[in-house]
Parts: sequence; C-alpha cells; structure tokens
Amino acid sequence: MKVLLINGSPHKNGETASALSVVEKSLQEQGIETSWFQIGSQPIRGCINCCSCKQTNRCVFTDDKCNEMIENLLQADGVIIGSPVYFAGPNGALCALLDRAFYAASNFGHLFVGKPAAAVVSCWRAGATASLDRINKYFSFSEMPVVSSNYWNMKHDGVDPYGNEIMEKLGINMAKMLKVIDEQYKKSDET
Ligand SMILES: Cc1cc2nc3c(=O)[nH]c(=O)nc-3n(C[C@H](O)[C@H](O)[C@H](O)COP(=O)(O)O)c2cc1C
Repeated sequence: MKVLLINGSPHKNGETASALSVVEKSLQEQGIETSWFQIGSQPIRGCINCCSCKQTNRCVFTDDKCNEMIENLLQADGVIIGSPVYFAGPNGALCALLDRAFYAASNFGHLFVGKPAAAVVSCWRAGATASLDRINKYFSFSEMPVVSSNYWNMKHDGVDPYGNEIMEKLGINMAKMLKVIDEQYKKSDET
C-alpha cells in the first residue's frame, strides 16, 4: 500500500516538507510505502472552466504538473496534501492545481473515490484551520474518507513537538485506515 505525499510549498525542503516527513516516517513504521509529489515553483495555471476535461478526465493544459498529479494520485492508495499557510489559506498555486486535478478526475470521473486522504498545513502563527478546511473540501467532494489525527493537522515553524506528535498520529491513523480498507476489499473478493 502506498501513500502519496503532495508538498504544496515551493520549498522542496521547507516547513511543509518537514511536517510531511514526520507523517512519512510514521507511515513507513507501519509498513506503508510513500512517494512524493512536489508542486515546485514553476508557474501553474488556474482553471478556465472550459470543460474539456469532461471527455478526458485530464486537464487540457499540459504545460504544468496537473496531469502528472492526477496520474500520481491514481497510482496511490491514499494521499496526504501539505501546504504552507498563505494569508490564512492554502498556497494559491496548490489550489490552482487541485481545482483542475479534482475537477477533471473527480468531478467528471469519480476517479479518486474511496482513497483515504488528509490535509496537513505548516504556518508561522495563524490561519491553519481555515487552510485545512479548504483542502478538506476536495476530499469530501470526492467521496474520499478523511483521516484525522488527535488534533487539527498543523505544525508551526521551527521546533514544534506538539506538531510532530500530531503528524505521527496522522501517519498511524492513515495506516490503520488503509489496512481496514484493504481487508474489506479482500473479503469482498472472497464472496
Ligand atoms: C505570502 C505568505 C503569506 C503567509 N501567510 C501566513 C499566514 O497567514 N499565517 C501564518 O501563520 N503564516 C503565514 N506565512 C508563513 C508560512 O505559512 C510559513 O512560514 C510556512 O511554514 C512556510 O512553509 P514552507 O517552508 O513549506 O514554504 C505566510 C508566508 C507567505 C510567503
């Protein structure tokens, strides 16, 4: 079983990556494989509502990472999407990418149904819960079970032992959810 870690920060090794790395370690300790998807710092287009994706389940624009993100999501059993908090919301570039990926694959194709998902945010001080709410909207729209931790999934910049605990617990809970789903599929295959 594999979980995709999407780093929605332009910084490959920044605070968001640091939070996701704690989740990754925890997942790996539970026997879950991981892979990374970096949104990077190249320009990302916004959705233009052309609805070309209605036929293809892919975005008509091929000059950024949107379709690559869809393929990565399809190959994963679960996903964690991380973002830095920008003005009390997720990174706008990440939202632009998610709008297009989820409109193409999820709104028109229902391709992500059943994949457990969680959002993680890193922030200096405030705006974390509003940012989490925004990212969770993609999951609840898409029939993706939202995995929780023992607090809201936020980590503050620098040393944040509480943030680390939240990330560790999230990894444990994601692993449990994946194993339960896997067992259910095996049972339904037997019947
Ligand atoms: C444009 C911009 C807006 C920001 N707005 C907030 C904010 O509203 N609240 C906050 O706590 N931190 C804010 N920050 C700080 C970042 O969210 C924080 O440093 C984050 O952990 C950086 O993650 P990264 O290293 O993965 O990019 C902002 C940073 C930038 C660049």
